[in-house]
Amino acid sequence: MTALLEAKDVVRTYAAGGKGRLRAVDGISLSLAPGETLALVGESGCGKSTLGRLLMGFDRPDRGQILFDGQDMARLSSRALRQTRSQLQMVFQDSASAFNPRWTIGSALAEPFRIHKRPFSRQSVEDLLERVGLSGSFYDRYPAALSGGQRQRLNIARAIALSPRVIVADEPVSALDVSVQAQIINLLRDLQTDMGLASLFISHDLAVVRQISDRIAVMYLGGIVEEGETLSLLAAPAHPYTRALSTPCHSPGKLSVSLCREMCRARFRLLQAVGFIRGAPELSLDAQSSDQSWRKNRVNIA
Ligand SMILES: Nc1ncnc2c1ncn2[C@@H]1O[C@H](COP(=O)(O)OP(=O)(O)O)[C@@H](O)[C@H]1O
Ligand SMILES: [Mg+2]
Repeated sequence: MTALLEAKDVVRTYAAGGKGRLRAVDGISLSLAPGETLALVGESGCGKSTLGRLLMGFDRPDRGQILFDGQDMARLSSRALRQTRSQLQMVFQDSASAFNPRWTIGSALAEPFRIHKRPFSRQSVEDLLERVGLSGSFYDRYPAALSGGQRQRLNIARAIALSPRVIVADEPVSALDVSVQAQIINLLRDLQTDMGLASLFISHDLAVVRQISDRIAVMYLGGIVEEGETLSLLAAPAHPYTRALSTPCHSPGKLSVSLCREMCRARFRLLQAVGFIRGAPELSLDAQSSDQSWRKNRVNIA
């Protein structure tokens, strides 16, 4: 099937404070088919958000191409780019800062229609609220009245307002409680099915992406180290890094904290031994002892 969104040998570097340049995205090729959900998973700092921004056209690669519907985004006229922007939408992790606190929820949701000069009415905005499981009566209220999960629903409502073809969701449930995470994942999955949306779902957590993705691409130090259908990749992860990501450490509720910590240490040593962790100081597990820092490490490794 023809790719809807595609990265071709994309490189993005950043200045690394007098030490040359950091290759945040290091020669990645990736494609998203219409209607498909591709998960991009990897530890914190491996370049997922950078790649997400490049795919959205918010940022330009140093090298390589981003193609939307076969068209190189760097070569689009400003009119065509505007048209493309309405078909590509992003959902961020931080829904709290995604809305102007002085705007009502109704005005916030009407904004994409205004920007793209599309017709809308109060009723169509209320319908949009209801589509994401929020009451239409929120129309005249302010974002501060919403819980974290409700705000993420609002974020999703704004992203689907113009019936896009692709959604890039960057850690959309990472800031939410586990029970709320499941509701938001179900909502995203239902919307994708109903609207035939393609989505790139970015996460550091394999346990989350397995619930939503058709395919998984595992990212490590700016590159894709493994890619495949979700079920087959999880059943037989080929790469040591993916194997380490998919150990039961992601279900701490079923294990004691000390056992989980031991498993994290063992995984860390394994990764060091096979050369997949090179002097990452924030991962020095032996220095960690409190439950709090264990959780931080779990997130870093996951
Ligand atoms: N604007 C920027 N300027 C400099 N370095 C950046 C910038 N954005 C990201 N980086 C660096 O690029 C690497 C990848 O970051 P990011 O894409 O945010 O990773 P992830 O989303 O996987 O946590 C990190 O080392 C980060 O510090
Ligand atoms: Mg990120």
